[in-house]
Amino acid sequence: MKVAVFSTKSYDREYLDKLNQDRKHELVYFEASLKAETVRLAENFDAVCVFVNDKIDKELIEKLKKLGIKLIVLRCAGFNNVDIEAACEQNMPVLRVPAYSPNAVAEHALALIMTLNRKTHKAYNRVREGNFSIERLTGFDLNGKTIGVIGTGKIGCIFAKIMLGLGCEVIAFDKFPNPELQDLKVKYLPLEDVFKQSEIISLHCPLTPETKHIINNNSLNMMKKGVMIINTSRGKLIDTDAAIQALKEGRIGYLGVDVYAQEENLFFKDLSEMVILDDKISRLMTFPNVLVTAHQAYFTDNALTQIAATTLKNLSDFEQGSIDPKNQVCIEMMK
Ligand code: NAI
Repeated sequence: MKVAVFSTKSYDREYLDKLNQDRKHELVYFEASLKAETVRLAENFDAVCVFVNDKIDKELIEKLKKLGIKLIVLRCAGFNNVDIEAACEQNMPVLRVPAYSPNAVAEHALALIMTLNRKTHKAYNRVREGNFSIERLTGFDLNGKTIGVIGTGKIGCIFAKIMLGLGCEVIAFDKFPNPELQDLKVKYLPLEDVFKQSEIISLHCPLTPETKHIINNNSLNMMKKGVMIINTSRGKLIDTDAAIQALKEGRIGYLGVDVYAQEENLFFKDLSEMVILDDKISRLMTFPNVLVTAHQAYFTDNALTQIAATTLKNLSDFEQGSIDPKNQVCIEMMK
């Protein structure tokens, strides 16, 4: 198939080309993201291939249809950036990579926790400058702490097991409890109880209308003072204004995020010589107890290989009229 690949970075090209050596598909790479201003680039292609921050709304889907696009392939698991209803109306399948490396994301959540807790980023800088003082680097033992996991699907399940391995007590909320975790003595509780009892809360649910701002002023007020919140899922799970206020008041003790509500204007770009116009992320980055990474939780060699392999398979399956239902996004998944 002839595919317009949007939001391309060097690593996307490297891994897709490596697995497409037989040139089964004609991949044309664009650094630009897919949006109204760039949609014409998709002319004369069969499919578009996009990533997390390409916002594919109804209007864009109608334009893609007019240009003759038959398929949207996502190089990611989350699909909140695509208007699935509009794609269905246009009879345009949306295929994704449902799992590339759930371990990578779960392990990054642990990295955020460990960095915030043991302040290794500060220690690294101190020692390099000849400052061997350990004043104010005090952390806490994770062993025995209560960890709340919201969403225990592929990533949340691995994360819960990692935390059990560290001797934590794990409590969880999910609409569909995972029997494997229940066997391991993970306690499923109502969401409010998870908020009230946890010392660390890690978000692993998708962004849906129901989960948008699941961390808001109301839920923050239920939590233990000084709670650690970790978000490797989607930025809009957190109401940023409420989080900033709670950080100012010490209600949030630590915040580790790999995702941010307005990340599409920032993440995956080198803005080091630019003025950052987003005042909220600038404010977040001033707190000593906030750690922001730029959507890199998935970013391992294993995951990039898997993303490229599944993306190419999705294209071939579609061409052969045999879409893998596990990879297709449907309206029911939005509920
Ligand atoms: P999954 O589909 O395997 O699991 C999601 C779980 O959330 C399911 O068990 C589901 O029942 C649960 N859930 C749905 N609505 C809920 C609600 N209202 N409250 C609590 N739980 C709810 O998805 P997976 O693979 O574990 O990924 C989770 C999320 O991680 C993705 O939706 C995506 O947003 C994010 N992600 C982030 C990456 C990164 O690099 N930062 C990479 C990959 C995924």
